[in-house]
Amino acid sequence: MKEKIASYLAEIAAFTAADATAAEEFRIRFLGRKGLLQDLFLDLKAAPADEKRELGKLMNDLKNAAEEKTAILKTQFEQTQESGSTIDLSLPAFPVQLGARHPLSIVRRQIIEIFARIGYQVAEGAEIEDDFHNFSALNFPEDHPARDMQDTFFVQNNPDILLRTHTSTVQVRVMESAKPPIRILAPGRVYRNEAISARANCFFHQVEGLYIDEGVSFADLKQTLLLFAREMFSADTQIRLRPSYFPFTEPSAEMDISCNICSGKGCNVCKYTGWVEILGCGMVDPAVLKNCDIDPEKYSGFAFGMGIERITMLKYKVNDLRIFFDNDVRFLRQFTGA
Ligand code: DAH
Repeated sequence: MKEKIASYLAEIAAFTAADATAAEEFRIRFLGRKGLLQDLFLDLKAAPADEKRELGKLMNDLKNAAEEKTAILKTQFEQTQESGSTIDLSLPAFPVQLGARHPLSIVRRQIIEIFARIGYQVAEGAEIEDDFHNFSALNFPEDHPARDMQDTFFVQNNPDILLRTHTSTVQVRVMESAKPPIRILAPGRVYRNEAISARANCFFHQVEGLYIDEGVSFADLKQTLLLFAREMFSADTQIRLRPSYFPFTEPSAEMDISCNICSGKGCNVCKYTGWVEILGCGMVDPAVLKNCDIDPEKYSGFAFGMGIERITMLKYKVNDLRIFFDNDVRFLRQFTGA
């Protein structure tokens, strides 16, 4: 038995395998369930008691040698397989670029968050609308220039279907289906047939606000918008309401804030006036309430609409609106926010 073990040890030491199959055959020959070592262990059992100790030790050596050789052969063929392929698993991984929120999304969420604190809920409407919800219900006269092909993208061959030009459509949608008190905020994309420039694009984003209840006054409007301006820009921001005209509000106003870039001292953003316009607003015209089946004798309300691009440009001091739509990550990576 000793000779057998010695010859197996020599065989193991000398063994080389040409390929993975030969290595596996080696393993089975020595270590398999019906392998040579199993046979020897049976012999060991039958061996005379005084030889068992020595033979046992030799068997152990043999087993270790067979296992070691098997392990070596295994790594040898794994390595040859790998070096045959172009994948180097030891290379460091590519860094994963984490995305960031788009600045327009950051500002939209901020606007929603500010108004949510005073009870406004988000409402949504479709981007493809009909003339009634975009114009007629909002009191636009039949011959109003905003209906003109110059400003509005109509769906081909159907002057009744269009891409909404403002989020005021959602005012109508909500008032048609809900009863006052109504307090909603409607963020969304709008479309206008405009030449693309640093200040205008053929689509952009607005947030509409609407508050309808009994006894809502212009003072409520003013205080709400003051709160918004101070939360959005800074606690010392001033607001100014200038009389204006929108078909769906009466009276109507445009709201300016004290220029946050030069703090009112005068710069080219505020054209040296110290004020920048950020939104349109007004008391909802009784005719609009009537169009939506809300009794103007009982209820009143205010509405406002602002461009998210404009607010974002002022907040982050961006001077060209087109950059928001270029998707250049060098620009987009600079913004952090929830
Ligand atoms: N819809 C107007 C626009 O796109 C903005 C606007 C002005 C909305 C006054 C309003 C408002 O709700 O009251 O220019």
